[in-house]
Amino acid sequence: MIDGSGGLPYKADLGIEGNAIAAIGDLCRADSRERRNVEGKIVAPGFIDAHTHDDRALLVNGDMDEKVSQGVTTVVIGNCGISLAPLRRKDIPPPLNIVGESEWFKYETFAEYLADLDRHPAAVNAVPLVGLTSLRAGALDDLALPASATQIALMRQRLVDSMEAGAFGASCGTFYAPASAADAEEVIGVAEPLGDYDAILSVHLRDESDRILESLSEAAHIGKRTGARIVISHHKLLGKNNHGRSKETLEFIRNNFDANRFGMDCYPYEAASSVLLPKMIDLSSESYITWSEGCPECSGMTFTEAVTHLGVARAAAIERLQPAGAVYFMMHDEDVQRILAYEKTMVGSDGLPHDLHPHPRLWGSFPRVFSRYVRDIRVLSMEAAVRKMTGLTSDTFSLTNRGYLREGYCADVTVFDPVLIADRATFDRPRVRSVGVEHVWVNGHPAMLDAQRLPERCGRTLRRNG
Ligand code: ZN
Ligand code: CU
Repeated sequence: MIDGSGGLPYKADLGIEGNAIAAIGDLCRADSRERRNVEGKIVAPGFIDAHTHDDRALLVNGDMDEKVSQGVTTVVIGNCGISLAPLRRKDIPPPLNIVGESEWFKYETFAEYLADLDRHPAAVNAVPLVGLTSLRAGALDDLALPASATQIALMRQRLVDSMEAGAFGASCGTFYAPASAADAEEVIGVAEPLGDYDAILSVHLRDESDRILESLSEAAHIGKRTGARIVISHHKLLGKNNHGRSKETLEFIRNNFDANRFGMDCYPYEAASSVLLPKMIDLSSESYITWSEGCPECSGMTFTEAVTHLGVARAAAIERLQPAGAVYFMMHDEDVQRILAYEKTMVGSDGLPHDLHPHPRLWGSFPRVFSRYVRDIRVLSMEAAVRKMTGLTSDTFSLTNRGYLREGYCADVTVFDPVLIADRATFDRPRVRSVGVEHVWVNGHPAMLDAQRLPERCGRTLRRNG
């Protein structure tokens, strides 16, 4: 058993009663309706995916096979500034469209969205964040402009309403066009109430390439001014020029953030994925199309193949493919290793569930941390890896009664084979289940037994303060 604290594995029985972990210890004499022998396997807290875009997937694809099959029992939604609520708008600009087309942006309030999630339970729990870019799209007609004082006040009020409805915090994404006109002052103006709630602000940095230090410093400044706990999303270094610079960024982070009020997430791959953006293509050694409305048959082609297929120049090809998404090979594994091993880094897939040919991180992130980073290259111990998927994440997001194997805690439990656990999803075949996860319980109910899924959906939409 590995309990999520980072402590060494130990041998024990675990008893589940109702929704909770009833007992841990030697339970061979305890009464029980059903017993499972999991000798030689690891019993761990259900994994928490610290960074997802499952805001709509939970409603339309509630069995969440891509997550449960990895041992994930909870997902944090509303990342990178993007949430489905609160926002009603006809023209939904990229990247908001990664979670849904215009018809999905139908929730006037965050409470309405949470109620909809409650009405359609999914197989995993959800930890909802409010996207500041979604708030911006609801308050400004012209997103290329900075917000006025009145617009900032409106966004701030909607953030407060969402926090009152149960959001765990917010996220921002000034890297992307609909939010890049927002300077730090605008973000601070909107996000100020987060400090009163001692809540999270997850930050997709303004720049993850040449200006990474300036962007980290902006995030630190926003954290100081608002009092929010900063989480740096999917920390990585983009483009050849910046490879190796995780030494500098981690040093900067150590010196400029209070470790007790700071978090970071990372996915275990050297390729990124997002909407199709010229600036990302320019930084990549290779890229391919994950979906395209302009040219659906281009999905799965490399960008170069798509340009040839369309028979036009690069810039025109980008135009023709839009709206579209892509995978970009642009990081160095040395940085991925260093960032993943950093003590404050949680595992977050950043999976994009609606892509036709998604980045394999959607189906493989968690098992891959074990197969590659624990077993093959040994930059992490088994218990450190589990902690990055469970207790650390629970602490960072202030979840109550989850993320650890402790008596009285919610029975989110994953049992996996430490020798076999591995990702099978690849860039060529991205929708392949991982192997080695055997049993998964969500809130005390089995979601997977002997690697077979069960139809019941026992996840809950969690609220801040219960
Ligand atoms: Zn992001
Ligand atoms: Cu993201």
